[in-house]
This record gives sequence, C-alpha cells and structure tokens, in this order.
Amino acid sequence: MNPVDLEDVPTNRSGNTPFSDIVERARSRRGFLKTGLGLGAVGFLSAGLAACGSDDDDDKPETENPGETPPGEPTPTPNPEPAPMLGFKAVAADSGDAIIVPEGYSSAVLTRWGDPLFANSPAWKGDATDTAEAQRLTFGDNHDGMHFFPLSGESSTEGLLVMNHEYINPEFFFPANVVTGGANWSLEWIRKSQHAHGASVAHVRLVNGQWEVVVPSAYNRRIHANTPMLITGPAAGHPSMQTSADQTGTISLGTINNCGNGYTMWGTYITCEENFNGYFGTAGTDQRDASQRRYGLSATRSGYGWETLDARFDYVAEPNESNRFGWIVEIDPFDPSSTPKKRTALGRFKHENAAQTLAADKRVVVYMGDDQAGDYIYKFVSDGKFDAALPMLNRNLLETGTLYVAKFEAGAVTGDMMGNGSWIALRPETATTNGQTLGTTFTDIGEILINARLAADAVGATPMDRPEWVTVHPTTGEVYCTLTNNSGRSTTDDANPRARNVYGQIVRWRETGGDAAAMTFEWDLFVLAGNPAAGEGLVAGSANITAENLFNSPDGLAFDAHGRLWIQTDGNFSNTGAYAGMGNNQMLVADPQAGAGKGEIRRFLVGPSGCEITGITFTPDHKYVFVNVQHPGEYGSHPRAAGKPAPEVDPLAFSQWPDAAGGRPRPGTVVIWKNDGGIVGT
Ligand code: FEO
Ligand code: CA
Ligand code: CA
Repeated sequence: MNPVDLEDVPTNRSGNTPFSDIVERARSRRGFLKTGLGLGAVGFLSAGLAACGSDDDDDKPETENPGETPPGEPTPTPNPEPAPMLGFKAVAADSGDAIIVPEGYSSAVLTRWGDPLFANSPAWKGDATDTAEAQRLTFGDNHDGMHFFPLSGESSTEGLLVMNHEYINPEFFFPANVVTGGANWSLEWIRKSQHAHGASVAHVRLVNGQWEVVVPSAYNRRIHANTPMLITGPAAGHPSMQTSADQTGTISLGTINNCGNGYTMWGTYITCEENFNGYFGTAGTDQRDASQRRYGLSATRSGYGWETLDARFDYVAEPNESNRFGWIVEIDPFDPSSTPKKRTALGRFKHENAAQTLAADKRVVVYMGDDQAGDYIYKFVSDGKFDAALPMLNRNLLETGTLYVAKFEAGAVTGDMMGNGSWIALRPETATTNGQTLGTTFTDIGEILINARLAADAVGATPMDRPEWVTVHPTTGEVYCTLTNNSGRSTTDDANPRARNVYGQIVRWRETGGDAAAMTFEWDLFVLAGNPAAGEGLVAGSANITAENLFNSPDGLAFDAHGRLWIQTDGNFSNTGAYAGMGNNQMLVADPQAGAGKGEIRRFLVGPSGCEITGITFTPDHKYVFVNVQHPGEYGSHPRAAGKPAPEVDPLAFSQWPDAAGGRPRPGTVVIWKNDGGIVGT
C-alpha cells in the first residue's frame, strides 16, 4: 500500500453518479436483493452456495464403469485430456514472513532492492547508509509493474526483465538518524530517494535451471527521477508544461511513483506515473490552485521532503513542474541510450497500468485506470493503425489519438450483463453536463489532457471505487478492471459494507460488436470480494468467493496467454474482523469461464508480512511466472503481528524478507515454476 494512497480525499468530488449506486440499481431491477442470495437470481451472490473450491476434478462426468466400451461399438480413440485451466491445489491463507506457492511448485528470489546491475555497482550495505550514487547503480525500491521481453524471438530462457520502482519506505530506506526534512536531512538523501524510483531494465537468463541477472550487460539500465525524458503529444510545449529549467515544455527530468505497467506490440515498455502529487510541497501555507487540489498535491510539506532542498518540487517556486508528471511513459528497453517518452495523448491522472489491444480496424486501444476513490476508467484510441510490417511507424502510435472516459449505466442489457455504458471523448467539442463544451472551460486539447480529471468530471464520467489494473482477455477481448476498495466511504458501518467497500471487486465489460474502439459497452461484475464468515449478502461477496479463496483489495491483474486471470492483492492483512481468514496479501488465479459462468478462483501464492504482491509477467512458454513483492514489512495502519515490538520501537521487526533474519526487508522479484516443467497454473 502506498501511504500516499491514504490521504483523505473526498470520494465523489464531481457529483457524478457513483458506480456503486448503479450496481445497486441494476441488482434491484433484476430481483437480486429481493430473492436474496440464490444462484437463480443472476448466479452472482455467494450465500453459501457450493464453493468452486480447490477440488480440481469435481466437474468430470461420473460413469459407472469408466473406460469400458459398450458391446458392439468400436473402441474410441482416446482424446488427450486437455490440461486443466487451474490444476494446482490452492494454498491456505497465511500470516508468516515467507513466499508460499502450491505443492509441486517452487520459487526463488531473482532481484532485490539494492542488488547490482553494473560492473561498478557497490555492494548493498544493509544499514541504509548506501550513497545516492550506489542507489543509481543498483535496483530501485518497491518493485511494481514488470514485463519480460524475450531477447530474441520467443526465447523463454533469456530476456529483458523491465520493472517499476514505485516509492520508498523511509523507515527502511534511511538510517535511523535521518529524518525526512528534519535531522541529518540533505540533498544526498533526496538524490538517493530519487534514484530509488523509476524503472530498471535487467538482462536475465536461465542457467542450469536457475534464473540470474546478467551483470554486466549492455542492456542493463536504471531510469529514475532525474533521467531526461521527451514530452510528446498534444500537451508537449504547452505553456502549462514550461518551467524555468525547460522553457520549451518538451524535456522533463525523470519519472516517479511508477506503479503498474504496460507493454506494446512493437516491443516497448510502458511505465505509469501514479501518486506524483505526493512529491510536491512547499513551506508555509496552502497555495494550491484548483487543478493542484484536484490532483491532491500536498498543501504544505510533502511526505518525501524533496521540495525542501530541490526547488523544482516546490509547487510555489515551480508551479508547472507537477504538470510534467502523472503521465504514461514509453521506454525502449532494447536501446539503453534511448530517451523515454511521456505520452501526453493518454492523459494525466494517477495512472495505475496500461493494457493494450487492437481495434477492429487495427487502431491501438489502451485501457487505463485512475487509482483514487471516486475517479475514472479511461481508454485511448490511436489515430494511426498498427502494421506489423512498419515497426518504426508503430513507434509513433501513442503520440496522437483520442482519450475517452467511461460512463457506466444501468440500462438494458443482454444475457447476464448488469448494465451498459459509453465512452465519452475528452475533446474541446464534447458537451459538458452543464450545457457547455469542454472547449468553453479549457483553452485547448493540451489543457484538457493536462487536466484530464477535471475534464472527466465535467462530462459526467462515473466515479469508481479506485480503478487499478486493467487487462484484456486474449481471445474474447473482454476487459477486466480491479476496483480495489473504497475505504474513503468507511465512515458508515459494517451493516452496509459496500458503501464502505472494504473488499473491492472486479468489473468487466464487452465492447459493442467486440470492437475495442466501440463507443458503447455492456458490463457486469466478475467477482465481488467479500467474507461469508463476516456477514451475508453483499458482505459475503459473489458466488465465486469461498472460505478457501478469501481476499480483499484486488490490485494487480493480468490474463496469461491461455486465458487464466491472475489477481494480486494489496489490502488489509490484519487477518481479523472483516478480514479474518484472508492472511497476508496474495495472488490468486481465476478461470473466468469455469462452471456456468461462476468463474472459479484459487489462491496460488501468499506473500511475506506486510507486503503486496504486484507486477506479473510470463516467459512465452508460460513455464515461469515473475511477480514482485512490494513493501514487505510495511505496517501501514495495521495492528502489529503478535509478539512484535511496535514499529516506532523497531521498524525492522515485522519482516526480514527475503534475507536472513535481522536484515532490512527488501522488495524484490520472485520467479515461480512448476517442478514438473509444466505451465504455471496447471
Ligand atoms: Fe500503485 Fe494503485 O497502486
Ligand atoms: Ca497498490
Ligand atoms: Ca497497484
């Protein structure tokens, strides 16, 4: 959990109809609440219905004499049994300080914060006294989104593993005598912090059954908060993008709070800037303008303290600098000398990840969430079309196009879908809900994109419960998005938990005609996370929630190439009260097609104390899956583990993962494989 996520932000600043209200209306209309919890209503609520559970053979037909051929009939040619989508035995919830994977699987740590990338990378010290230069030469902190690019063809044994480094935990990152903005604070510590952000490109290979980082390698690279970037697209050069250091408004320094990721079909990596607001502050009183308030810039001092000695992060000294963050950034991992590009056509907000697909006419479509309570789901549709034969032209596809925001409604639907919706273009001519157009409020398309949230407010987009990752099914094109929770509504009570929405849900939609560029869609919920032991109905969650797969706060989300849906969580790990039975944050796998649309979900992995599981990518043969363990040991606001000293007494007591006991917890990458060499998940 990023502490910056926890700021007290109103959940519906726009006044637009919240998504939860629409869900409620859709359910009521369909007799959902009236009939209680029966599957017959819409096959949705749990209500103690047969669990999908972890038995992996309960859908096989029973025969009296299996294998026996009736007399007089030819012996049929046996069809090879297709590999089950979910073939592993679910792991139990756990609150320990370790990675747990299913029987028959193994895991290993591949990268850690502070591990070397270059021949001259200093060894990690373990007491947080490493210099800013040492941090620049080693893996950053708090690994997040990640993608494996085969080094050649479809290689599953050698590639570039590119990963985000989202933020730092000061209690682990600095020596105990260094206080952010206080005692022993210096520009050196700020630079170290800046160098821990961004992304790493790591050349990795499989040698004798073990994955390793190749050091040195010409491919290895660190991109951080001071790496020069090119600003491209409609907002490039805009007056609101100009600063005293860059009066062209086209070259910015660095990328921060790199959360989820994306990748393109032309071989580039996308890093997504999320809570950039938390890095800007000022001395004295609140001097923010409306846009800076909408994006949640710190009113006075920031939590990271960079503005104390690095004036570009002082929003009074440099009022436009924060406009240069909150973007999608495209990186060519194969060219270590390439300049990353900020793609302003895809809008400025708290980007979670970016899921790419193609429209029917081969325009590129990118789905994106804005992770804030009451914010929106977006999609970008490129002007140009993807052409595999024109690789250099494809590289400009994210430069121009149209940004749309989603409106979810409770209108007429087909089948079991719960509602319909539309995509509203964020362009000057688009009508606003007050009877004007966006062009009335915003001077040009650049200003609309810089203020995408305000533009989306004005056109009536649907406030969602914190949109996190989006992923597209590899064959059906259905789009799934995690809505992690809306704890900003928790001032109500447990009897009305969906108003609090402490558990989260996954919404999915089908674009009209199966065309990703369509202007309308139909939607339903794939899963409503919950806890049947904590209450009934909306508390218990949907039919695919069972006592064996309890989780809260779905965050990371990705389909593999075979259509398994991998769900990663970043939520409450207290394992008590409403969260009892959930244990540490985890990764689950779902089969969206399983059994009458129930969509079986099984727990695949449990992470160490205090962590979230995030970032997921596969080798092309799907024999290895890489995931990231972010912020192990982070207490946040949770009750401490039994027997551990309070964090203010010993911040290192909660987790020492993954090193020997006594060490600082270190975010890292874990690789997981099936011991028999099979596809992960089977
Ligand atoms: Fe960085 Fe919304 O998680
Ligand atoms: Ca998160
Ligand atoms: Ca996340």
